Amino acid sequence: MNVRHFLTLMDLSQEELRQLIERAIELKQWQKQGRIFEPLKHKVLAMVFEKSSTRTRVSFETGMVQLGGHAMFLSPRDTQFGRGEPIEDSARVLSRITDAVMIRTFEHEKLERFAEYAVSPVINALTDQYHPCQLLADIQTWFEHRGDIRGATVCFIGDGNNMCHSYINAARQFDFHLRIATPAGYKPDKNIVAAAGNRVTLLEDPLTAAQGADLVVTDVWASMGQEQEQSAREKEFAGFQVNRELMANANPEALFMHCLPAHRGEEVTAEIIDGPQSVVWDEAENRLHAQKALLEFLLTD
Ligand code: CP
Ligand code: NVA
Repeated sequence: MNVRHFLTLMDLSQEELRQLIERAIELKQWQKQGRIFEPLKHKVLAMVFEKSSTRTRVSFETGMVQLGGHAMFLSPRDTQFGRGEPIEDSARVLSRITDAVMIRTFEHEKLERFAEYAVSPVINALTDQYHPCQLLADIQTWFEHRGDIRGATVCFIGDGNNMCHSYINAARQFDFHLRIATPAGYKPDKNIVAAAGNRVTLLEDPLTAAQGADLVVTDVWASMGQEQEQSAREKEFAGFQVNRELMANANPEALFMHCLPAHRGEEVTAEIIDGPQSVVWDEAENRLHAQKALLEFLLTD
């Protein structure tokens, strides 16, 4: 059997992704009903975190236990990859001993190199370039609240970052239109945009991007690793806040999503993230269910 990895949303077919979302919704129902489902008994997931995490760690670890397996947290502070053991060697060793490896790191190329040498599935738990697990949860959340996302208009306001890139891939894979509003110097990667063709429109005016949108999404202005740019970015992104005025431009039924952690008063006001259009808590919970569906997909026949 060929090993399947999940480095970006493009690693699964459109049909596989849709099945995975449906399965996530089903597994969530089973969990709420107290049904025991343990297809991953005795399987082990290694979780490598080179950046901080709350949701990703807790959801993967909980998900593995609920599926009957085990998750192992590995930090660079106490492992040999923090002391410079080559990625290729770490990949071969970790993937031979465990059944899957989840990685959160900086350069996307590092994750790709790891996957190249791994003999078991590798999951991207966030790189500087992409955050595909978050998109599984976001799309599941949309399906639960509104049904199919095909044909919807989504707007992403803020930084052309890892979340923005994964939204671009989601627009291709789930067939929706994405309007992106960023400050001029913070546009998403042009190759990722180009690959999406007419599914993506780049703008610099957030109000125009939000016009009639069915879903409004934002993310922090300074991502992990960009902490020293925080104050410069606060100035650059000042007009890119999701607030009452911006939401008033969207479809009155529009939902609001944010991958979290959020900075109230920066990229979003408290009124919006804590208001009736926000589904951020469902979105956070769905990390668990969507990743359980992913683990089942990658680790069982
Ligand atoms: N959204 C998300 O990935 O959260 P954590 O950084 O807490 O894992
Ligand atoms: N863009 C953010 C997402 C955090 C889940 C970051 O990379 O820090």
